Amino acid sequence: MGVRFNDLGRTSKLERSSLLEDIAMILESGSFLNGPFSERLRSMLKSSLSVNGVTLVGNGTDALRVALMSLGVTSGSRVVTVGNAGGYASGAALSLGATPVLVDVSAETAQMEPDSLRRALESRERPDAIVVTHLYGLMAPIIELVDLASAAGVPVVEDVAQAFGARIAEGPAGSFGSLATTSFYPTKNLGSIGDAGAIFSSSKELSDRCARLAQYGWGERYVVESLSGVNSRMDEIHAATLCQRLSSVHHQNAQRRAIVADFNASLGPKRRVIHAEGESFVGHLAVMTTPERDRDRERLTNAGIETAIHYPIPDHLQPAWEKLIETPVPLANTETLARQVLSVPCFPSMTEAEIDQVRVALEALGD
Ligand SMILES: Cc1ncc(COP(=O)(O)O)c(C=O)c1O
Repeated sequence: MGVRFNDLGRTSKLERSSLLEDIAMILESGSFLNGPFSERLRSMLKSSLSVNGVTLVGNGTDALRVALMSLGVTSGSRVVTVGNAGGYASGAALSLGATPVLVDVSAETAQMEPDSLRRALESRERPDAIVVTHLYGLMAPIIELVDLASAAGVPVVEDVAQAFGARIAEGPAGSFGSLATTSFYPTKNLGSIGDAGAIFSSSKELSDRCARLAQYGWGERYVVESLSGVNSRMDEIHAATLCQRLSSVHHQNAQRRAIVADFNASLGPKRRVIHAEGESFVGHLAVMTTPERDRDRERLTNAGIETAIHYPIPDHLQPAWEKLIETPVPLANTETLARQVLSVPCFPSMTEAEIDQVRVALEALGD
């Protein structure tokens, strides 16, 4: 039997009756948007992330765009981010007419490297925002990054789409920046049964601005108070699903963490899975680094294991973006990691037999 990269139907099959109950309630109520489930989800998310304001939106890309808009990012602005995180932050900046400015990541953790950020901040004029993505389920060194950003007077947006539920002693991922965003895309640790996203902030002013920008720029109904508002809302079915799933996310994060630790222990000395012990890591993806990716991928495929690459092309080398991105510092680690990363299956409903099959195949890769 093969091991699939993910199997979302396994979880939703178990939730079938409780989800159908909520959906029936929504259908009967006639309240499809901005209803009681959205209200409940906002309040659950506020306490989960220790923030005061939550704006529910249509997906994680809209969350990033609206968060950047709320900080005044527009045509001609510059937004610092990393180039190894799937391009979501660069794409959001470019869609607003802003220029992404890339800094390098740590070779060990694949997260934004504070020293590289410091050099980029010193080298050119002040950027308008910094997007810190907590990648693969691991928290970036957020305290150091926010300190550097604050000293330079630049607001930080944390993207917690891949690290929902991660935390360090000082607080949960998403509680450190001026704003944070997430995606509830189905494969995320907290995912829905379709597209959805959210923006978090403890600033009332920024939260109010996000709420206006996400709904046509309206202050009150039909009164446009913010220029360039969009329409991005979460519907009640996703809000109800997420209310149900929020209660199991921490338990599932622990299951993911255990799977990743197990896989890491199966690898020889030239390979490792990017991870950390403890709650600063929530095992969104099991991403190994290997000096022989093509060979390893082929061997895993032959052993029936599906793999993926997160992500094969750094943002500054994307064909449509090459000329639009600033690279003020060398991006050596970003480029090396793009050649070495290989993701293996990691999801909470993996069976013991599947975990064993992956473990044995990883051991067989040898030294
Ligand atoms: C870190 C990160 N940010 C943003 C997004 C974009 O989210 P969405 O697909 O919901 O637009 C994703 C991917 O889904 C992501 O992994």
